[in-house]
Amino acid sequence: MLRSRITGTGMYVPDKVVTNFDLEKLMDTTDSWIRERAGIVERRFVDSEVGTSGLAYEAAKMALSNAKLQASDIDFIVFATLSSDYLVPGSGVLLQEKLGIPGIPALDIRNQCTGFIYGLSVADQFIKTGMYKKIMVVGSEIHSTGLDLSTRGRDVGVLFGDGAGVVIVEPSDDPDRGVLSSHLHADGRFAKELFMENPGSLHIPRLTKEMLDDGSVYPIMNGRQVFKNAVIRFCEAITECLTANNVSPDQVKLVIPHQANLRITEAVAQRFNYTLDRVFSNIHKYGNTTAASIPIAMHEALMQGKINKGDYIVLVAFGSGFTWGSILLRW
Ligand code: COA
Repeated sequence: MLRSRITGTGMYVPDKVVTNFDLEKLMDTTDSWIRERAGIVERRFVDSEVGTSGLAYEAAKMALSNAKLQASDIDFIVFATLSSDYLVPGSGVLLQEKLGIPGIPALDIRNQCTGFIYGLSVADQFIKTGMYKKIMVVGSEIHSTGLDLSTRGRDVGVLFGDGAGVVIVEPSDDPDRGVLSSHLHADGRFAKELFMENPGSLHIPRLTKEMLDDGSVYPIMNGRQVFKNAVIRFCEAITECLTANNVSPDQVKLVIPHQANLRITEAVAQRFNYTLDRVFSNIHKYGNTTAASIPIAMHEALMQGKINKGDYIVLVAFGSGFTWGSILLRW
């Protein structure tokens, strides 16, 4: 069977570091509250109008170089984000324009924190059918310009950061290595547990001064409900991809979870009896970068020598929707 394989990774985060102490100056919060509840020490915020596609462009150049490809080799772009440069069109075509590769398809995916898992799964299907052969899968987010960074929005505002991660997906030359399976889920009954109501097509008119004043243009979250569901679904999704491939938890070299919260990562590690070095974490540096968090983490894990040929690697995510899913890779 034709499998797909990740042949290059890249990442980019803006230069501007925003520490918890910086946030203390904007809202009623403390460094210790943020560290203890979420494990975040600092995050990156854009300080120019670069756009989500602009962050992705920098990560894309690195991924292409690592895959030893030119932009003109790419035959499909899959772009996951909840924070596109414009509401219309999506950021996929904007990245395509920056890369100078008109004509190829560009698909936008909006599955929030699970966006990269959905995107990689889509790419995998197209590689397996033979329709495309060099796919760029992107997760990129700019949260900083869309958060309520006052005390009113502190429960959400302290958690998120900006960044981009990109992988290149190609057919594997070894049938035993590559994406072994992907597993996608959603449950819209929980859509309003983590959502941003406005502006949207539901309301007439879409955007009013009242919406700006009442804060409904910012994301809101039922933190405890999200936390509880995240731990359950992360564990289910890991078990699902291992069971599907007859791989035991002991055989897994590294789990790369969506970076939502260090306490969620710790709970998942505990459930599988993993020491923390087997569940990758970089949330202390970047906060939650939503669709970008897994490709950034994967790139850093590779650079740190934590992923080697033949290793079983689990990718797993949960987020707004609710959406969740997992992918088992054999590197
Ligand atoms: N700084 C200081 N205090 C804060 C705060 C902040 N940034 N945000 C909230 N608080 C306060 C609350 O107002 C509350 O005060 P009260 O007890 O006087 O009412 C108190 O801290 C506890 O709030 P609570 O929401 O119960 O805290 P928690 O232990 O549930 O932790 C989260 C909050 C958000 C860290 C936690 O629920 C969480 O991690 N949820 C999942 C988040 C997530 O992963 N989201 C993305 C999914 S992909």
